[in-house]
Formats: sequence, C-alpha cells, structure tokens
Amino acid sequence: MAKVYAVANQKGGVGKTTTAINLAACLAEAGEPALVIDLDPQANATSGLGERANGTSTYDLLDGASLQELAKPTKFPNLHLIPAKPDLAGATVELTQHSDGETYLRQALSTGTEKYSFVFLDCPPSFGPLTVNALAAADRVLIPVQAEYYALEGLSQLVHSINLVKARLNPRLAVGGVLLTMVDGRTRLSADVEAEVRKHFGELVFTQTVPRSVRLAEAPSHGLPAIAYDRRSRGADAYWKVAMELVERA
Ligand SMILES: Nc1ncnc2c1ncn2[C@@H]1O[C@H](COP(=O)(O)OP(=O)(O)OP(=O)(O)O)[C@@H](O)[C@H]1O
Ligand SMILES: [Mg+2]
Repeated sequence: MAKVYAVANQKGGVGKTTTAINLAACLAEAGEPALVIDLDPQANATSGLGERANGTSTYDLLDGASLQELAKPTKFPNLHLIPAKPDLAGATVELTQHSDGETYLRQALSTGTEKYSFVFLDCPPSFGPLTVNALAAADRVLIPVQAEYYALEGLSQLVHSINLVKARLNPRLAVGGVLLTMVDGRTRLSADVEAEVRKHFGELVFTQTVPRSVRLAEAPSHGLPAIAYDRRSRGADAYWKVAMELVERA
C-alpha cells in the first residue's frame, strides 16, 4: 500500500513544493514508485517537474475521475504526476458546498494508489478546503519549516488544525516529520530556530536539514528536481538523505 504524505504548512514559501517534488524524485530514483498530486492552483509542483496540465488535472480527480486515468508519467522513471491548473482555485468554493466535500480526495485515493510506494500531496499555503482534503486523505503530514524567526509562529496553529482534522475526519492521521528548510549554517538565527524546533517536536524532526541553496532555487525554472539539475549540489544531497530517513520511518 502506498503511504500518502500531505506536505502542508499554511505559511507561504516555506519549501512545501520543493520538498514534495524533491522527495518524490529521490524516492523514484531509489526504486520506490512515487506519485505527486499537485493540490495548489499555483501549480508549482507541476512546473517544477517540467510539466504542464494541458488536459486533465487535479480538478478532475476531485470531480470523480479515476486516479489511474489521471496520473501521468513524467520524464523521470518511476515518478508520476497529477498536475494542477489555475481552475483548481474554483474547486475551493465547490468543495465547501457539499456535505462530504472534505473527503473527495480520500474517495479518489481509495483505488489506484497500490502501484506507488509514496504519494505526495503538495498543499497550497492556506488551511482551506484543499488542505483539509489532503489531511483527510493522508496517512502522514510532512511539515516543512523555514529556519527563520517567524517560523515557529504558525506552527502551533498548524498542529491544532491537524488535530481537528484528525478528530473529525481522519483518526489515523499523524505528523510524519518536520523538516527544517533553507537553513543557513552560518547564522546564529538558523541554529536558534533549529534548536527551538527540535526542542518542541523532538524525534519528529528529520535529522537531516535542507540548506539554503542557490541550486535548489534555480532547479524549478529548469523544470527539474535537484537530483536531475545538479546531482552533486548540497540541496540534492540533503533531499536524498531526507528521503532515506523517510523510507526508514515508513
Ligand atoms: N533550500 C532552499 N534554498 C533556496 N531556495 C529554496 C529552498 N527551498 C525552496 N526554495 C525556493 O524558495 C521559494 C519557495 O519554495 P517553495 O515553492 O518550495 O515553497 P512553498 O511552501 O511551496 O510555497 P507556496 O506556499 O507558495 O506554495 C521557491 O522559489 C523555491 O525555489
Ligand atoms: Mg508550493
């Protein structure tokens, strides 16, 4: 059975998409079939993998089409994608108009995920209906935390929201890992934030952190995950090690 990970944090720009596509790419390369479902109308996971939704998309998945039909191979072996288009923003409204609208994604994932080891749901930067759908469908939440001063502020709110979804919609939901991103090893601030996050979340925090890296920031503009863009970069190396930790935890 596939393990389904929602990559979520209502805070914008913390590394959700970078984490989703790079972990998926590393796992795929390690021989673990992976699927990325782009749940963000910004479609950054789609473009970050060099794809474009010119036909079906995540919108259709929420609209009842089968996952098997919608998941398309990418140019990376073992890595499939259900792309997003801006029309996904409209789904946000529609999902709230149906009493079971919070579990549409879970229903869609009930068949067709068997051939994957890992499924990553790249969430938008809000705690709206798309993120609620992701948490209702997921086994685990991965929380990227940017190593900067305000990082901790939204975290207790996020954990509270995760617990609400767990209680109301998805009892098996658990935090699967907290990942420190954009860590700048030279600054005291990064070290302080890391210490603070580790104190609070303990073993949930991945041992490996992701450094702030120009190569990681450049890769999506080439439509490539870091291991394909520059395999020897620090960013690629970091995500590879996080992926291996994830395999151990799974
Ligand atoms: N470790 C890193 N080092 C340098 N740049 C990074 C790193 N991780 C992500 N970035 C860049 O920071 C920006 C935000 O990252 P990303 O898109 O992954 O965040 P996000 O949480 O998905 O954002 P959003 O909330 O808008 O969906 C992107 O331009 C990305 O390329
Ligand atoms: Mg994103």
